[in-house]
Order: sequence, then C-alpha cells, then structure tokens
Amino acid sequence: MFVNDNLKIFSGKSNTALAGAVCEYLEIPLGAAKIERFADGEKVVRVEDDVRGRDCFVVQSTCRPVDEHLVELLIYLDCLRRASAVRITAVIPYFGYARQDRKDEGRVPITAKLVANLITTAGADRVLAIDLHAAQVQGFFDIPVDHLAGELVLGKYFKDKKIDKLTVISPDVGNMRIASRYAAHLGGELAIVHKKRMSGTEVRALEIIGEVEGRNILMCDDIIATAGTVCNAASLVKERGAEKIYVGATHGVLAGEALEQLEQAPIDEVVVTDTIPLAPAAKKLGSIKVLTVSAMLGEAIKRIHKNESVSSLFNDV
Ligand code: R5P
Repeated sequence: MFVNDNLKIFSGKSNTALAGAVCEYLEIPLGAAKIERFADGEKVVRVEDDVRGRDCFVVQSTCRPVDEHLVELLIYLDCLRRASAVRITAVIPYFGYARQDRKDEGRVPITAKLVANLITTAGADRVLAIDLHAAQVQGFFDIPVDHLAGELVLGKYFKDKKIDKLTVISPDVGNMRIASRYAAHLGGELAIVHKKRMSGTEVRALEIIGEVEGRNILMCDDIIATAGTVCNAASLVKERGAEKIYVGATHGVLAGEALEQLEQAPIDEVVVTDTIPLAPAAKKLGSIKVLTVSAMLGEAIKRIHKNESVSSLFNDV
C-alpha cells in the first residue's frame, strides 16, 4: 500500500459509489461518518474517525438536489476543520452552479464565484474538480485548484473504438478547444456547430462549419443538461448526411426532458462519466454508457497527498 494512515477520504451523499470506487483504487477504507437530519430538517455531519493532523478529502458532487448537496459539503468541511484536520481537499467531481460564471445581462448573480467563496470559507484548503465548465472558474477560488479533464477517460474510450472517417464536432463555440484536442488525439477532422441559446431550456443548432457528409461524428461536451445542445446538433448533422453519431460528455446531468430528447435523437451512443450517479430512468436508455473517473480521481488524490505533480497525470494516461 502506498499511502499511510494520514490519508482519509470521506463521502457526502451525492455519489457514494464513486467515493467507494476511489477508495478501492487507493486500497483504503472510506472514512466513517454519519450524515443525519434534526427533526426540523437541519443537517448534521458527525465524523467518526480521528482526523486530527490528517490529510482529509471529501468527495461530493454538487448535483441534484444541488442546494442540499452543496450545504452538506459545506457542513462536512466545517466539521473536518473543527476536528483539526491538517489539510482538507474538497473533491467535487461535478461542480454545480459553475455555468453562472459571468454577468451577461443586468441584475444576475455569478454563482460560480459565490459557491467558490462558500467552499473556501467553510474550510477547504484545496479543491479537486473535473471539467468545471470553464477553466477560468479555477480563478474564482483563492486556494489551489487541481482541474482534471473527463477527456482522459472519454478520449481513451473513443480511441479504443477506432472510429474511421471521424469528424469531431464541438456543439458550440465554448467547447472548441476541447473538441480540437479530441480531434488531434483521435486523428479526426474538426467541425463546429453554431448554436443559439433561446432560454435555459431551449437551444437551436443553426449552422455547421466543417465537413459532416459521409462522416462518423463524435460530439464532445462538458455537460448534458436538458440535452438540447447535443440533440439539436445531432439532428442537424444527420440532416447533412452524417453516418454514426457518438456523444461524449463528462457530466450527465440529464435534467428536464433530457432522456426523452436523447431517445428520439439520431444518436448511436451517449457516453458520460460517473461524476453524477445515473438516475434509474436513464439506465433504461439503451444508447447510454457510463465510464468511471474513479481511477483518475484516486490517482490525483494520491499525488496531492504525496505532494507530487497532478498535471503530469495528463501525460501518463
Ligand atoms: C454550454 O456552454 C455547455 O457546454 C453545454 O453545451 C450545455 O450546458 C448543455 O446544456 P443542455 O444539455 O441543456 O443543452
């Protein structure tokens, strides 16, 4: 075993399966804690292991129910700090609220910054996250952030598939950089869909820049929320003569009508990771596949614990 008794990993309630898989990778038991509610609904976290002077990690995705999981994470951090953990890392595989990261109209909040402040104030010394929607969200924290990419896991899966006549598509301008990395890694052409967001739940794919006729398509995104982005883009590329269409996204939020939309879209396979547990209804969708990020997270945790480079992880995988 490469770690000592000083490393402790705890889990919030959002994604206990992933936290368990991370511990399996590291060959350590999950830290003992109880999360309960008082009669009035308030939450309390009781850590049952001795954490004084220990290097502690709390795994919690701030996925649905977002506010509940966020508050639970904050309480966990406070609990560990008051129990004299020497260093606390908030491991946030999916960071909810990240998409509100700028004021693009009047009188709106910047929740990504607000949540970053809350996490720091609650007691986190570091953050370990995966695909924060926009890399600059790292700068909203005044503590170190290790930012992993789902691409490490998804890229390997699609490489192993050896898709021929491949065109990698960015379903919007924001994902262009990631799509071009996939195209370089997988050896495909690159295309982009011009998307217009009409509202939080409605998007339109307007035009494609790049060649899709007769090509197999891999569309990459960080999040599938309502699935409007990928489904609209898939319909457009299919209309323009694309053959197989694959979608790879790190976070399967799958909110609102997402499952119905994905079922009807001309998509052959949707691949997401386990940063968010898949809802039981989503498991019935034949085209969906879930890859685990547990080894990537476990490796990053090991390196943080041993004060080794995390960025070099990107060269190793
Ligand atoms: C947008 O900037 C993101 O990268 C995703 O494309 C978007 O959040 C997906 O949302 P939805 O699935 O609701 O279209």
